[in-house]
Amino acid sequence: MGKYGRLHRVMTARQEIVSVGLKKNPRVLFLYFSFSGQTGILVNRLSEGLKEQGVEVVFEKLRPARHLRFPVNGFLRTIAMMLTTFCRIRVPIKELSSKCDQVYNLIILAGPTWSYNPSGPILYFLDKYGSDVLGGQEVLPLISCRGYWKQHWWGLRRKLKKCGAHYSNLIAFTHPNPEPWCTIGVFLKIAGKNPERSNFIGKYYTRFGHSNDQTEEASRFGKLIGESLKGGTPLAEINFRTDLSLP
Ligand SMILES: Cc1cc2nc3c(=O)[nH]c(=O)nc-3n(C[C@H](O)[C@H](O)[C@H](O)COP(=O)(O)O)c2cc1C
Repeated sequence: MGKYGRLHRVMTARQEIVSVGLKKNPRVLFLYFSFSGQTGILVNRLSEGLKEQGVEVVFEKLRPARHLRFPVNGFLRTIAMMLTTFCRIRVPIKELSSKCDQVYNLIILAGPTWSYNPSGPILYFLDKYGSDVLGGQEVLPLISCRGYWKQHWWGLRRKLKKCGAHYSNLIAFTHPNPEPWCTIGVFLKIAGKNPERSNFIGKYYTRFGHSNDQTEEASRFGKLIGESLKGGTPLAEINFRTDLSLP
C-alpha cells in the first residue's frame, strides 16, 4: 500500500478508535531499538503493566542492517562511536515487518540517547519510515539514557512533528548512578570493561544501567497507560517525571 493510501487508512481507523470506542481492547505497538539492553528491559516491564490492564501489546524491534556489537571492545572504537553518534550518523535498519502497517491506539517509540541525540537506528527509521508508520498516530516516546535526555527530546519532538505524529507526553529514565561515576562507568562498559568490579571505581559505580526500582516503576507506568487508554483519559495527564524515573 502506498504512503498516502496508508495515511488515509490510519486516519480512518483513528476516527473509528474514537467513535466506535475500540478503547475496550486497546492495542499498543512497541517500536524500539536497544544497544546494550536497557531500553529492552524498560519495554518489557512497561508491556507487563499494560498487559495487566488487558491491553494487547505488539513488539517491533528495529534491527540494524549491519550487526552492532555490544560492547564495542576498545577505547578507540568507543571514542569513534561517540564521535559518529554526535554527528547523528544514521544506522540503516532491516525492512520493517507488517506489524508496522497496522493501526494502534498508541505507538511507544523507545530507544537510548546517543551523544545527546536519538540513536542511529531510530534516526534512520524516522527519516525513512517515520511519516508512513507514525503519521496520524498517537506516539509516546520512551528514552533510556545515562542522564542527558532533554536535547534528545527536543530533537525527537521536531522529527515527530515533521512525520505528522501526535504526542502529548514523554517517558525518560536516567541511570541512577551519581556523576562523574555514571559517565565513566558507561564509557568503560561500552569499551568492554567491568567498572563495577574495579577496586576503586567499583566503590562508586556498583551497577550498569537502570535499577530494579526503576524497572518496577516502568511496570507501574504501563498500568497507568493502560488505564488511560481504557478510560479514554489524556495521556498528557500522567506524571512520568518521578523521583524513580529521573533520580
Ligand atoms: C554511543 C553512545 C553514546 C551515548 N551518549 C549518551 C548521551 O549523550 N547522554 C546520555 O545520557 N547517555 C548516553 N549514552 C548512554 C545510553 O543512553 C544509556 O546507557 C542507555 O541506557 C542505553 O540504552 P540501551 O541499552 O537500550 O542501548 C550513550 C551510549 C552510547 C552507546
